[in-house]
Amino acid sequence: MTSQGNNLDRWYGSYAERTAGLAASEVRALFAVASRPEVVSLAGGMPFVSALPRELVSGAMERVMRDKGPVALQYGSGQGVPALREQILEVMALEGIRANVDDVVVTTGSQHALELVAKIFLDPGDVVLAEAPSYVTAMVVFKSFQAQVEHVLTDEHGLVPSALREHIARLRAQGRRIKFLYTVPTFGNPSGITMSWERRLEVLEIARANDILVLEDNPYGLLYFDGPPPHAMRSVEEEGVIYLGTFSKTLAPGFRVGWALAPHAIREKLILANEAAVLSPSSLTQMIISEYLSTADWKGQIDTFRGVYRERRDAMLQALTDYLPDLSWTVPNGGFYVWLTLPDNVDSKSMLPRAVKELVAYTPGTAFYANGDGRTHMRLAFCYPTPDFIREGIRRLSTVINGELELLNTFSQTAPLATVRAEQRIVSPPANLG
Ligand SMILES: Cc1ncc(COP(=O)(O)O)c(C=O)c1O
Repeated sequence: MTSQGNNLDRWYGSYAERTAGLAASEVRALFAVASRPEVVSLAGGMPFVSALPRELVSGAMERVMRDKGPVALQYGSGQGVPALREQILEVMALEGIRANVDDVVVTTGSQHALELVAKIFLDPGDVVLAEAPSYVTAMVVFKSFQAQVEHVLTDEHGLVPSALREHIARLRAQGRRIKFLYTVPTFGNPSGITMSWERRLEVLEIARANDILVLEDNPYGLLYFDGPPPHAMRSVEEEGVIYLGTFSKTLAPGFRVGWALAPHAIREKLILANEAAVLSPSSLTQMIISEYLSTADWKGQIDTFRGVYRERRDAMLQALTDYLPDLSWTVPNGGFYVWLTLPDNVDSKSMLPRAVKELVAYTPGTAFYANGDGRTHMRLAFCYPTPDFIREGIRRLSTVINGELELLNTFSQTAPLATVRAEQRIVSPPANLG
């Protein structure tokens, strides 16, 4: 790097090379506009925290300050508050995980756990395998450590094992170093897809046979709608999986409390990396959550969230059926997202400004690929707007998509709408997810 600045940034030449992976997304500016109240935003994945009774949290806050104030306001352990780590075991038990409290490391949200895992494993040029498509901000982290994200084919049951095998063999033949497989197997972000139990076992077997660590990121697993999903991958594989959890979706993201459950040796490195980064995660918010978990009906509260999100998912699916009947989309059994497939000639990224002008926003599919793919997809988040707004948002979106197709038809001799749409069905709603 040179020490030359430029007109906009005097320090342009001084940044570390790894910051090249921290480029702001091209659609970020639009999202500032999209946050205006008249815009129905189906873009952001913000939990609907208003469904959490405030007195449940304020009561816990008051008791922590009254009974344990000096401890809560102090630095704490780099591994996290022991009482909370015990309770995290109870939370994970709901997804079939049995673990030792010593192997839980509390982090500042699971996003920070992703950062710590990347920091202890990734050297420049290393490969991270990830679903196609994959959670955008995990890829930002991996890229910021100068790793390369290689996408593995998925279908309606999650990662495709044969594709995973072939990809590993191809990369190894090229002499590339694969560090881990990153997966969001339950109610994926952005796909909404859940990896089936058989697939989980097969993927774990492939990872084991190839000495590849699995990074299982599971923020949404407890937010199911039509019955519980398969148990976590970590429930059957202890040594080869780092599991990430969070209170952001089952309680509130403002606490910034998540965790990593890691094999013993890795856990040790994670604690050191956590201490280097933040000394200790916030004692205050960990203790408030611990108090909340021991005094409130937290499982009942998760049930309330499930009801809210189920209603919104249903509203989105109904609106898609009513307004965009010729397109295809995933049908999630939980979580926050639907993944919409557009006709092949429609580009979701270049269409976004027109959508925002029509007062609806979404996240273009390209955000979820490290290689520029995803043009003909978009992520629609149903977590935050009310059912009425979701319906109105999809109605506006249908106007935009139909307008786009008419425009394309005018300027090129493409097939009529219905024909184009029918031919472009890629992801059909999986029958088993109702
Ligand atoms: C798949 C996935 N992983 C991690 C995170 C980060 O969550 P948090 O840092 O709030 O725990 C998110 C947030 O949306 C997510 O969707």
